Amino acid sequence: MGAIPIVWSSAQLATTGGLQTIGRRPGNTSMSYRHSAFLALVALVCCVLVATGSFAEKAHTMRKEAFGVTPQGSPVELYTFTNAHGLEVRAINYGGIIVSLRVPDKPGQLDDVVLGFDGLQGYLDNKPYFGAIIGRYGNRIAGAQFKLDGVSHTLAANNGPNTLHGGNIGFNKIIWKAEPFDNERGVGLILRHTSPDGDEGYPGNLNVEVTYTLTDQNELIFDYKATTDKATPINLTQHAYFNLAGEGHGDVLGHLLMLNADRFTPVDKTLIPLGELRSVKNTPLDFTKPTAIGARINQNDEQLMLGHGYDHNFVINRTGNGPELAARVREPETGRVVEVYTTEPGVQFYSGNFLDGIAGKNGHIYKQRFGFCLETQHFPDSPNQPGFPSTILRPGETYRSRTMYRFSVEK
Ligand code: GLA
Repeated sequence: MGAIPIVWSSAQLATTGGLQTIGRRPGNTSMSYRHSAFLALVALVCCVLVATGSFAEKAHTMRKEAFGVTPQGSPVELYTFTNAHGLEVRAINYGGIIVSLRVPDKPGQLDDVVLGFDGLQGYLDNKPYFGAIIGRYGNRIAGAQFKLDGVSHTLAANNGPNTLHGGNIGFNKIIWKAEPFDNERGVGLILRHTSPDGDEGYPGNLNVEVTYTLTDQNELIFDYKATTDKATPINLTQHAYFNLAGEGHGDVLGHLLMLNADRFTPVDKTLIPLGELRSVKNTPLDFTKPTAIGARINQNDEQLMLGHGYDHNFVINRTGNGPELAARVREPETGRVVEVYTTEPGVQFYSGNFLDGIAGKNGHIYKQRFGFCLETQHFPDSPNQPGFPSTILRPGETYRSRTMYRFSVEK
């Protein structure tokens, strides 16, 4: 697996060219010998440089290993894949969880920028949903029920009176069928799952496919696809928690956030949208210009109080149906930047308000606001909100959604 390093082919070409010259031009033997000796030397130097990795363009890598066994006896697999620049994603087939994501800082130092646990045990509980695929419905549905085509459906009330992130056993807690790939677009994993009719109260057999692609442009792309045999709501997302200074390196209040959103959906006391699209102007939710996450987080603002900080759906300023920039975050010390592009209409900016000293990776304790999430999505509670874009997938239709994290450094 993995592309052949480009420099190998040039070295091989140089060698072949030299040998051909010897045979074809007898009239100019000494020149030919000198020429071919020179080429052979160049080839040798190239080979040494390649072998030492000095100027070889690195190939993709993909490795699979065991990551423990669930209490039900299912083995969990860990996939580690890297791109040509050494960016490394580690993901497990349990919940599709991204357990680590190593990206470079200004001097090129790789660090793990997502929160998580050291082993499977932590992920089996995983109250904060670290790094997981969320489904069938990301975020909340009010009163854990909805009516569709005149029929009422009851879901699991796992968040006060509401349902959150798919219910008791959402897509974050199932074993996905994983298929690794390495092609011209990048390296990654295809994760597949069939959620049966009635799963967590949702109607229809739902076939879901989520593809993680790591490109050589330092992008991690999530492609979501689903079909159903009965009309059903769907809203898939990824719940990675970032700390661009490195997981466990303090809070994220100094990160500079830009949200491409002039409006947000204000919430009630159980974090259900009121139905209104409200302007962010003159509120602490205005991130249209890069602003430190912590600059206004403790202001006496009703919405911030209700969310215990930021836990709101922002309405992305869209110019079309394609991927749109939703957010850009920069960590000033390390220079690391993540940009989030999506085809979704909204993004939940969550400032890690409910992190309460949970024991994470490498002995790190994650306190409140030690990570932030940018969950691209349709708006919360859409099945009960006729004014919001529809989340209903019907038989014969295909649900498609794409989100991309693009990593870079700003000098
Ligand atoms: C989402 C929700 C938050 C919280 C986290 C998980 O971001 O909006 O309220 O539930 O997931 O802890």
